[in-house]
Amino acid sequence: MISLAVNETIARAVEVLRENDHGDYTIPTKGLYPFQWNWDSCLTALGLAHYDEARAWTEIETLFAHQWPDGMVPHIVFHVLNDSYFPGPEVWRTNRPTATSGITQPAVAGFAVRRLFDRAKDKKLAAERARALLPKIDAWHRWFYENRDPRGEGLVAIIHPWESGRDNSIDWDDAFERVPTEGVEPYTRRDTLHADPAHRPTKAQYDRYLWLLQHFRALGWDNAKLHDASPFQIVDPGFNAILIRSAADLADLAETLGEMEIAKANRARAEKGLLAMERLWSDAHGQYLCLDRVIGKLVDSASVGGILPVFSAIPKPRIAAIAATIERIAGKARYIVPSHDLDDPRFDAKRYWRGPVWLVVNYMIADGLAASGHTQVAQRITRSSVDLIAESGFAEYYDPLSGEPLGGGRFTWTAAMVIEFLKSER
Ligand code: DGY
Repeated sequence: MISLAVNETIARAVEVLRENDHGDYTIPTKGLYPFQWNWDSCLTALGLAHYDEARAWTEIETLFAHQWPDGMVPHIVFHVLNDSYFPGPEVWRTNRPTATSGITQPAVAGFAVRRLFDRAKDKKLAAERARALLPKIDAWHRWFYENRDPRGEGLVAIIHPWESGRDNSIDWDDAFERVPTEGVEPYTRRDTLHADPAHRPTKAQYDRYLWLLQHFRALGWDNAKLHDASPFQIVDPGFNAILIRSAADLADLAETLGEMEIAKANRARAEKGLLAMERLWSDAHGQYLCLDRVIGKLVDSASVGGILPVFSAIPKPRIAAIAATIERIAGKARYIVPSHDLDDPRFDAKRYWRGPVWLVVNYMIADGLAASGHTQVAQRITRSSVDLIAESGFAEYYDPLSGEPLGGGRFTWTAAMVIEFLKSER
């Protein structure tokens, strides 16, 4: 019985992936996100690989075909014209052969490519495809540390909330006070046509997203200038942990494939990053916090960004403390892991990254916890994730208190993660 239900859920997840498949890339969901998104695609490849390995490699290759000459991999590739999304290419104006946005996203590619390679049934195909991607991912990692860690501190900053993927996290509220709104060109949002406005970022936040975009555009999208010119520079522990994990995974993969220079450079990035991460630890919260680089202070905001570092090789006592924090949270939320601590008065169960549960984040947290021996907490997270799907379908995110599906529907990366959870549970 159970395995029948599991097979049926996997079949339904595959249907979602196929529906959103555009041949050589997958869109996150129809209407709300009609182009290729960077970290969505890399995580989606893991789900694709369960039924079509070659197609999974293509997903990541398509993204990297649009890497910038300086090494950046943009957060959106606008493969087609589609006015159901704002801001489109006419706003970004990045002047690329195929239009792209001008900012980046969490660097999951190194992790995803290693996982695809390790699990590949067709090892010859995997070695060929991975070998071609290695120098590109390495160039992206180099770009990060050169452009977003200009003083060599070992941790990179995001300069726009969209880069973290956690668009409207409470983490950015204070820093956003510093981002002006004067001169923002008139605009019409499209996201609120496809999703309930109460589940989405506010107008005040959109004004600031756009001010930053216009500011960077006025600087000609020159990455050598953007970091220091941005009034928003946040060192996000989750974002850094993903980059550190990807650097370590890329180093392992490069070693296996005999690319020793790439291995060495990425090993050094990961080691330096892990040491620097200590600066972000908070005993009071039992997790890491963001650092506001402009003022040099930790941000007092306990979000899932500070729990995500279990995805990287942080010290064992830190992992144990975070596992305990998740257990404490699980005492208050029906579904874990909420994107913000429920004890914070700013927590909002329905609004995007201010409280809801996201399955991609669950996947990375559970992966890290399981690898370090915290199997019970990891299983609890997996169970929550699978329960949410059974009760509420393949939503973009979920209310941690009621399980209500929120945001966009028939969501690609949610479906991909479900396949991952269910296949690895067996
Ligand atoms: C959006 O438009 O909501 C996206 O998260 C930006 O990447």
